[in-house]
Amino acid sequence: MRRRPRVEVVSQTVNDKQESKKTALRALRRSGITDLSSEATRDISPALNGLLADVFALYLKTKNFHWHMSGSHFRDYYLLLDEHGDQLYATTDPIAERVRKIGGITLRSIGQIARTQRIADNDAEYVEPRDMLAELRDDNLRLTSAMREVHNTCDDYHDVATASLREVWIDETEQRTWFLYEVLHQPPGSNICA
Ligand SMILES: [Fe+2]
Repeated sequence: MRRRPRVEVVSQTVNDKQESKKTALRALRRSGITDLSSEATRDISPALNGLLADVFALYLKTKNFHWHMSGSHFRDYYLLLDEHGDQLYATTDPIAERVRKIGGITLRSIGQIARTQRIADNDAEYVEPRDMLAELRDDNLRLTSAMREVHNTCDDYHDVATASLREVWIDETEQRTWFLYEVLHQPPGSNICA
């Protein structure tokens, strides 16, 4: 009996997976979960999932720097990054649930976050405190840009609810960036929280 070439088998498996995803999406839409078009679900869901992965990555990096903070401003920086971490974590659930509310499938695992995130991890053994703050400031800036892009996608499909939440998330991200920027511009030896 002639065996099917391996490449054909692999591509068949990928096609099967894609088809079952489409079927799951159709099933959700049939149940009346959203009045948005299937194109809106198709385009907004991955945009939100990319953002969700970035927020998780930035959350863990912020906590990483909070846990490994050192130096003369230890307490101020430690507390600042704890606040930022809490704010980022609080964003994750609403992002994931927006994906579900518009009929999409959201992230399922740390592995999927790692495959999806655009914010780079920092596994260095030691990072200078000011370098930590500068890296987080730049990452928050990147996150703002990614949020604006998702906002545009939402506008294209009149998904005002996601766009409205996004405005709050952008403001919070800009506030984190602002705080980090100002802390980095404090004269050496001054107390940021005085
Ligand atoms: Fe802590």
